[in-house]
Amino acid sequence: MSELGRLLRYSRPYTAHLLLSVLLMACVGAAQALTVRLIVPIFDRVLNPASADSPVLLFTIPVWNYQVYLDRFMPASVHNVWTMVAGGILAMFAIKGLCDYAGNYLVNYVGLSAVTDLRQDVFDRVVNQDAHFFESNSTARVMSSIMNDLEKIQVAMSHILADLLRQSFTFLALGAVVLQTDWKLALASLTVLPFVLVPTLRLGRRIRRTTRSAQDNAAELNQVLQETLSGHQVVKSFGAEEIESNRFRDRAEHLRSNNLRYVAQQAVASPLIEFFAAITIVGLLTYARTQIKSGAMSTGEFTSFVIALFLLYEPVKRLTGIHNIFQQALGASQKVFEYLDRDLQVKERPGAARLNRFEKAIVFEKVNFRYPTSPEGLVLESIDLEVKAGEVVALVGPSGAGKTTLANLVPRFYDVTDGAIRIDGKDLRDLKLAALRDKISIVAQDTFLFNDTVGANIGYGLRYALPEQVHQAARDALAEEFISRMPQGYGTIIGERGVKLSGGQRQRLAIARALLKNAPILILDEATSHLDTESEVLVQKALQTLMTNRTVIVIAHRLSTVRRADKIVVLDRGRIAETGRHDELVSRGGLYQRLYELQFVTSDMNPADPLMNP
Ligand SMILES: Nc1ncnc2c1ncn2[C@@H]1O[C@H](COP(=O)(O)OP(=O)(O)OP(=O)(O)O)[C@@H](O)[C@H]1O
Ligand SMILES: [Mg+2]
Repeated sequence: MSELGRLLRYSRPYTAHLLLSVLLMACVGAAQALTVRLIVPIFDRVLNPASADSPVLLFTIPVWNYQVYLDRFMPASVHNVWTMVAGGILAMFAIKGLCDYAGNYLVNYVGLSAVTDLRQDVFDRVVNQDAHFFESNSTARVMSSIMNDLEKIQVAMSHILADLLRQSFTFLALGAVVLQTDWKLALASLTVLPFVLVPTLRLGRRIRRTTRSAQDNAAELNQVLQETLSGHQVVKSFGAEEIESNRFRDRAEHLRSNNLRYVAQQAVASPLIEFFAAITIVGLLTYARTQIKSGAMSTGEFTSFVIALFLLYEPVKRLTGIHNIFQQALGASQKVFEYLDRDLQVKERPGAARLNRFEKAIVFEKVNFRYPTSPEGLVLESIDLEVKAGEVVALVGPSGAGKTTLANLVPRFYDVTDGAIRIDGKDLRDLKLAALRDKISIVAQDTFLFNDTVGANIGYGLRYALPEQVHQAARDALAEEFISRMPQGYGTIIGERGVKLSGGQRQRLAIARALLKNAPILILDEATSHLDTESEVLVQKALQTLMTNRTVIVIAHRLSTVRRADKIVVLDRGRIAETGRHDELVSRGGLYQRLYELQFVTSDMNPADPLMNP
């Protein structure tokens, strides 16, 4: 039940709205009850010519025995019972309608606002999560939670709040009418309640479970959808449309059957209640017949009693329905709260220091690292490495050696398992995360671009980038030429992940972005896929501009980069095999020499390599 408490806590900032709607819903309940009470004088007075005009008793307040008459609310000139009753009924419906409208609006306002806040919290939590989180939770799953599950919670919250209030008050008010008419009869009719409640509670638990699996189905469906859409080219090139279509149908079928199971569970409640209602009402009618005959009850009282009883079953039915929706919301909220509660693995220490300027060096001290998801072996082992300010350090080594992993430790995408990384003598873990990452630009192997304008992509993450600065960065990255040829120049939308650009253009945008950020440390993962010659030359030149006056850790695949490096670090299976400059390593007979012969010799012939072709 604590989940429910947490959900409801989100409505706390809207207490005023909620209180007002409680009041309005109370009016709805009261108006409904009074309408039912107005049936008594219709039968006993209006339809009975023998009865006198005024006064018309509405209800008696118990304990004080204080009687409230309809006449009090009518102009003194009106004595006619029918006029008063008719006026009363119209007034009650008007009041009920208005209060219902306003109350409903307010309650939905609270529900929608609370869920919007909750969704924002979940998003903020997710966006701050570390790499590990995104590796163990698929994008589709997280998206499905933030959209579908929260949608369910939102519907439930609005329903719960609105119906819970309205139906509870209606139940109480009608209950009062019934009790006032004949309390013994009223209590007798309540005896069926357990027969209704027990099965509903049972049902609730099952509904919660069904919801959870429906939620998983929805996420799976989302997964297929997302993968097929973003991998549409692969799907087409392998002619896998039908396979994907079947995969989609299969998941959709699961979702359908789970949703149907929910409907079956949820829809059984109302006929169940109605059946018990029918039994009660028939029983009561039999009893009441004798009461009327003996004169213990008037026709009007009896009619109003029966109508109240009929109306009373509506709230009971609705309240059990709410219970089911509750369960659905709880089922849906489980994953959402799981995300909210997940501890950050890479987090800032309280009182973390700022890093105002990077001046001396980045030092790896006996660093060991293993990925949290694969705890078997160390991916990096006893790494000792110094990257002095202003140096270009090249990481080379066979695929899977740990180059990307090592580079990813610097911006703290992961924390070291043992040892430490210090920047100007300070442990990374003692620094403010934002301050640390502010000092680092990353140009990854395959850049991620947003489905936004060229300008917005270059200025990404910077709150105040002047157009002139954006243009300058583009010029330095040799991107201005192709940007100016685009239909709207800097205002052109580049498509999802930049699909409307070529590989080389994407890279130059990424370089422009890094230039604009102008961080002192640059992490560069050179693209392995070779661009066409012309693009390659442009990218190389742009990279040279980017690397000047910066401390660079570059995962190098090009001979030109390796030759320019102040230090080459050769990684092999997570360990540093060799370090040195190109000239020292190339004839040492170690791993570097072998790699060089395998990998770089061919690129000596590459006219795109700026060193070959200055
Ligand atoms: N997120 C991850 N979770 C678990 N293991 C990983 C993860 N990323 C990489 N690994 C493993 O860590 C090892 C080093 O990977 P890394 O990506 O650092 O290699 P690399 O040297 O950059 O290779 P390449 O030149 O092919 O890019 C590999 O064995 C890989 O399987
Ligand atoms: Mg790599």
